[in-house]
Amino acid sequence: MQRTLIIFKPDCLQRRLVGSILQRCEAKGLRIVALKLIRVDRAMAERHYAEHQGKPFFEGLIAFITSAPVIVGVLEGNEAIAVLRNLLGATNGVVAAPGTIRGDFSISKQNNLVHGSDSPESAARELALWFRPEELVDYTIAGEEWVSAGS
Ligand code: RTP
Ligand code: MG
Repeated sequence: MQRTLIIFKPDCLQRRLVGSILQRCEAKGLRIVALKLIRVDRAMAERHYAEHQGKPFFEGLIAFITSAPVIVGVLEGNEAIAVLRNLLGATNGVVAAPGTIRGDFSISKQNNLVHGSDSPESAARELALWFRPEELVDYTIAGEEWVSAGS
C-alpha cells in the first residue's frame, strides 16, 4: 500500500467539484487517510511548490493557491501515486485526455483543480509538510479484499 498527497485547489472548491472528484478517487479504490480544509499562506505555498521557484508561472501559482481555501488530504491504495496521477491526467486541462479529471473539468494550465504527488520522494516530502503523523488515521475498511486482492 502506498500513500499520496491530494490537494483540492481553490478552483475545485469554488466550482463545487470536491465531491465529484473525491467520488472518483474512492470509486477507483483509494481510501481516505486524512482530509482537512485550510487556507494556505504564502510560506506554505512556497514550500510546497519549491521546485517551481523561478519559473515564469511561479508567482501566479502562489497567488492562485493562496487565493481561497483548499482541501488537503492523503489517499492510500495499491500504487496510489501513479493511480491518482493517472486519474488527474495531464497538467494542462486543454490537452488532458477526456475521462481524466482535468480532461473532463479543466480548460486551463493553472486552474487544473487537483494536485497529486508525482513520485514516492515527493509524496514523503509533501505528507510530512502538510500533516503531523497523528493526523494520518489507520483503520480497516470493509471490503478491501474485493478492491486490492492480487494487486
Ligand atoms: P500538480 O503539481 O499541481 O499536481 O501538477 P503537475 O505535477 O501536473 O504540474 P507541475 O508541473 O508540478 O505544476 C504545478 C502547478 O503549477 C501550475 N502551472 N501553471 N501557467 C503555467 O504554465 C503553469 N504550469 C503549471 C498548475 O496549477 C500545475 O498543476
Ligand atoms: Mg507537480
